Amino acid sequence: ALPQTVKIVEVGPRDGLQNEKTVVPTEAKINLINMLSESGLPVIEATSFVSPKWVPQMADQVEVMQGISKKPGVSYPVLTPNLKGFQAAVSAGASEVAIFGAASELFSKKNINCSVEESLQRFEEVMKAAKEAAVPVRGYVSCVVGCPYEDRLYSMGCYEISLGDTIGVGTPGSMTKMLEAVTKEVPVSALAVHCHDTYGQALANILIALQVSVVDSSVAGLGGCPYAQGASGNVATEDVVYMLHGLGIKTGVDLSKLMDAGAFICRTINRKTSSKVAQATCKL
Ligand code: HMG
Ligand code: MG
Repeated sequence: ALPQTVKIVEVGPRDGLQNEKTVVPTEAKINLINMLSESGLPVIEATSFVSPKWVPQMADQVEVMQGISKKPGVSYPVLTPNLKGFQAAVSAGASEVAIFGAASELFSKKNINCSVEESLQRFEEVMKAAKEAAVPVRGYVSCVVGCPYEDRLYSMGCYEISLGDTIGVGTPGSMTKMLEAVTKEVPVSALAVHCHDTYGQALANILIALQVSVVDSSVAGLGGCPYAQGASGNVATEDVVYMLHGLGIKTGVDLSKLMDAGAFICRTINRKTSSKVAQATCKL
């Protein structure tokens, strides 16, 4: 049975913008997040507290966190790869964080410069500090199609595990198999799906996964992943909202306000939207 409501986690300001070539002015990021807040989205991943040498696009994380208008009821999680990132995030006013690991050793090395096992040790430190500070933690697992280890993040205490098809190679077939394996270890109520659209399968993958009622997406389909060459951005939030509303599923998102936010960021960074819905309704 399909869920009656789906929570959309907007990751455009982080996952989207981290991989845009144009350096996005801080003011534009703040503007984008504020517009997204007004669209009714319940969760907006705002930035990441990672090394500016690794991801220069996120170097203004403190200014972004302090510059946005936090709408009551909306959460603004940020990525924190280690204790240093966690402490910086909390000092900047973050009240929710996400740790991010990978099911692939190679991706783990390229992305966070350590093995999967080492990453889990770092995450334990973050979890301990987060529990002490009562900060909820989301967990990401990248490269999830094929090699699940998400139960370990769940047993560490992450309230939600986002299953990342990082380079967008999954199909409804591999997605189904992966979910069968994962749901043996982690309850469906604690899972999210995070699909990139490289092979054009993202909406189909989300549809087939809809026992899961949390979907990550990125306004205008922004971005990609800096360590996964050629990978396209996340599935576009506009397209997810359009599909879910077409199924009679509630999201709380106002599609027209969401499209305004998408149009704003595309204008600002001089990029064409990757959302089919936005393309279909744009009036040129
Ligand atoms: P490292 O170089 O191994 O770290 O990087 P280190 O502990 O050896 O420290 C080296 C330097 O980094 C030091 O500075 C530290 O202070 C600094 P220096 O002495 O050289 O001046 N440092 C930091 N600076 C800021 N914030 C921090 C931090 N930690 C150390 N938190 C590290 C390790 C994890 C920091 C690095 O590899 C990194 O920043 N990686 C970024 C990875 C990233 O952001 N990737 C994109 C997000 S993941 C993704 O997109 C996938 C996802 O969407 C799901 C999916 O699609 O599958 C989530
Ligand atoms: Mg991603």
